[in-house]
Amino acid sequence: MAKDIDWGSLGFGYVQTDKRFVANYKDGKWDEGSLVDDPMVTMSECAGVLQYAQTCFEGLKAYRTEDGKVVCFRPDLNASRMADSCRRLEMPVFPEERFVQAVVDTVKANLDYVPPYGSGATLYIRPYEFGINPVIGVKPADDYQFRMFCTPVGPYFKGGVKPIVIRVSDFDRAAPKGTGHIKAGLNYAMSLHAIVDAHNKGYAENLYPDSATRTKVEETGGANFIFITKDGTLVTPKSDTILPSITRRSLMVVAEKYLGMKVEHREVFLDELSDFAECGLCGTAAVISPVGKIDDHGKEICFPSGMEDMGPWTKKLYDTLTGIQMGRIEAPEGWIKVIAE
Ligand code: PLP
Ligand code: COI
Repeated sequence: MAKDIDWGSLGFGYVQTDKRFVANYKDGKWDEGSLVDDPMVTMSECAGVLQYAQTCFEGLKAYRTEDGKVVCFRPDLNASRMADSCRRLEMPVFPEERFVQAVVDTVKANLDYVPPYGSGATLYIRPYEFGINPVIGVKPADDYQFRMFCTPVGPYFKGGVKPIVIRVSDFDRAAPKGTGHIKAGLNYAMSLHAIVDAHNKGYAENLYPDSATRTKVEETGGANFIFITKDGTLVTPKSDTILPSITRRSLMVVAEKYLGMKVEHREVFLDELSDFAECGLCGTAAVISPVGKIDDHGKEICFPSGMEDMGPWTKKLYDTLTGIQMGRIEAPEGWIKVIAE
């Protein structure tokens, strides 16, 4: 029985669900792991995560399809990206096949929270791992906990798919050879002051330029960029210091294989922004959120697609991607993992 939730009015927030998955790493190995009822985490006051932020996470979604199945989208890529994050943070990797199984088990244990097809909401799944034993000298923890919970969510940006206004940030989120390419909690801590400042000034997000030269477009705090040229080419920024978005990698395939678009994955310079016809932010939470305007220190870049609707190419990409995720359009081999029939 679906829970009595007003799915249509959900924002991107936390709703406690029935079960979550927990596994512990101790004495050099992972235990069996299990689904538990208790949403609270108990740990030492000196836990590595609390002192030196040794934690990383993932985000993916489960969808109810048109024909009533529950599926998730490319969980194997979240598993492998989390493995990359763990290695960079000197944390033990929770085995990738067990990660995918934990996604299946966690969603199955919370099926009543998977929003109905067509409600506009989805079930967001949040896997994460952290150092749990006491650590006081600066070094990696010995013991870790891997957890995964899920929560029904609506749109990440208020207003759903209305174009947003963002600004070019003077704050950095990622350093060259730092951790921008992994999903480390510390990257998001770095972005908190910048996002509060942006919101206070009326912007929905920050465009972070590359911190070495401040001339190239990197990403926002929680999504990669897509741009569409006037002749319908999809352009997405390439950099070693941005998170390799699974949505962005999928859209590159959708654009080329489903929509016949040209795709360019390359460096994108701030001073070419005004040449683009459309701009959007893409990610699991953001899906594709259209950007209507970018404020670069008082110079306004207004995309021709305007502030009312998504541009036509962005809309095609959005409809095709969400069509694949919701089972309306046939997916490429291996993209959809069925959780419940
Ligand atoms: N960039 C950042 C910084 C993010 O936090 C996210 C969200 O996961 C993304 C990009 C989009 O990645 P994905 O499409 O894999 O969700
Ligand atoms: C996601 O899209 O899964 C993220 O982790 C981004 C975050 C801003 C919620």
